[in-house]
Amino acid sequence: MFPSINPTTTKAWPQLQQQAAVMKQASLRELFAKDPQRFAKFHLQFEEILFDYSKNLITQETLDTLLSLANESNVKAAIDAMFGAEKINRTEDRAVLHTALRNFSGKPVMLDGKDVLQDVHAVQQKMKAFCENIHSHKWLGYTGKPIKYVVNIGIGGSDLGPVMVTEALKPYATKGITPFFVSNVDGTHIVETLKKVTPEETLFLVASKTFTTQETMTNANTAREWFLQSAKDPAHIAKHFAALSTNEKDVKAFGIDPANMFEFWDWVGGRYSLWSAIGLSIALTIGYDNFEALLKGAEAVDNHFRTTPFEKNIPVIMALVGLWYGNFFGTATEAILPYDQYMHRFAAYFQQGNMESNGKYVDRDGKPVAWETGPIVWGEPGTNGQHAFYQLIHQGTRIVPADFIAPAISHNPVGDHHVKLMSNFFAQTEALMNGKTEAEVRAELEKAGKSEAEIKELLPYKVFTGNRPTNSFLVKEITPRSLGSLIALYEHKIFVQGVIWNIYSFDQWGVELGKQLAGRILPELMNDTPVSNHDASTNGLINAFKDMRK
Ligand code: F6P
Repeated sequence: MFPSINPTTTKAWPQLQQQAAVMKQASLRELFAKDPQRFAKFHLQFEEILFDYSKNLITQETLDTLLSLANESNVKAAIDAMFGAEKINRTEDRAVLHTALRNFSGKPVMLDGKDVLQDVHAVQQKMKAFCENIHSHKWLGYTGKPIKYVVNIGIGGSDLGPVMVTEALKPYATKGITPFFVSNVDGTHIVETLKKVTPEETLFLVASKTFTTQETMTNANTAREWFLQSAKDPAHIAKHFAALSTNEKDVKAFGIDPANMFEFWDWVGGRYSLWSAIGLSIALTIGYDNFEALLKGAEAVDNHFRTTPFEKNIPVIMALVGLWYGNFFGTATEAILPYDQYMHRFAAYFQQGNMESNGKYVDRDGKPVAWETGPIVWGEPGTNGQHAFYQLIHQGTRIVPADFIAPAISHNPVGDHHVKLMSNFFAQTEALMNGKTEAEVRAELEKAGKSEAEIKELLPYKVFTGNRPTNSFLVKEITPRSLGSLIALYEHKIFVQGVIWNIYSFDQWGVELGKQLAGRILPELMNDTPVSNHDASTNGLINAFKDMRK
């Protein structure tokens, strides 16, 4: 196990504090003007992904010190521990092996004396055969019709990954299959979805690692009742319900034939599970071969992450640059801004990936940390975001480090849409970096024929300070392979940051309290009797709710 290290006790930490004080006064414009090699120095290429981090408030000295921080924090040992199946998720006593799900090396991955790859490959074969049967119409519904609709019922990690990937890879969709995703326990979600599908042609995938999650089990029960209203005979469930889970006992109890259960294991974290059986909705939608290409894109990044020296290691650099702002500039958030409509759920996906992993205040010694940990992650696709929240990124009082992601080749090369989209992609990071000086604004206003009085009044509002940091990811094309790689880059970024912050990135105890209290409140909502056992606010709200429904 790699040691627990308080990052503030490293040699690098105070050096970074000093350097940040200097870099806060630096100008990105000037850094570029001074060094014509800046882009050459601060970009990396991985297959068809170009990662440009030159528009950050860093110098070679900053980067070297950040790399020292990674070395002093034993990131290399941590990487080896994760890939080596050590139980690095200590609070749940589990290994962290989502990388095994995309390991095609042929070399065993031993956990508790057993090669986990044998089980992984057996499930993958089962998923492949299942997809083939559905797509070739060998598998038919209870009235003899082919499956047309796949409804994935899951939440959190059992939903967000499949939603994000099936949307991002829509151009690869298999003809004849339409996927739907039901996650919210709000009845509207399942009711509205069921309006769009037919019982005879629908396959429900009950996706839940634990098979106990309230939202998922409630939606699954509603789906089963709806199905049986038409199918009548529970024997027909076998053709229309499959489970993606680690919990065989509860899958059986629900009435799903274990033959229709696609297994995964406790060493797959929910938010890292799209590579596992949880990805069955992806494989059914884009075809198994494309699903495998996604896994292989991630595997390529795993190899890059494991073997590349840190100064050329993209996830390590992503992590260090992110941490530079969060810990030394006091930024609180990070935006992910894909210039690709198909990737519209990418930010939402990594909102869970990042915030559930690194939203922790207790270190690996059980003590509260004295440094900031995970950022607030958010974002929307460009150019929509530009017309919504970019105002604050350009001229707000807070710095929002942002990742811009775009494909060079569009799946929909219609007219001049893509060059227009890309002109915005390039323009935004340029504008955020350079800003617009007073002199530039003045010249512009003079040219527009404004009077001196008008110029004086307008000038302050039209100045952009610039110096706002961004990363750019230019991807040749969003394919299953490149998307797999992109996702793995972000996953490993989160891992590296968690190691340096000395927290446990693979548990999620913070979601438990709300669940517990909801469980206690639920029976209280089943009758009209006023409650008085909570605080005054909660009592007041619950009682008002009861009154409103009378
Ligand atoms: O939100 C908490 C969480 O445990 C996530 O980590 C997980 O992805 C989600 O709930 C769903 O859990 P399950 O797959 O067990 O239904």
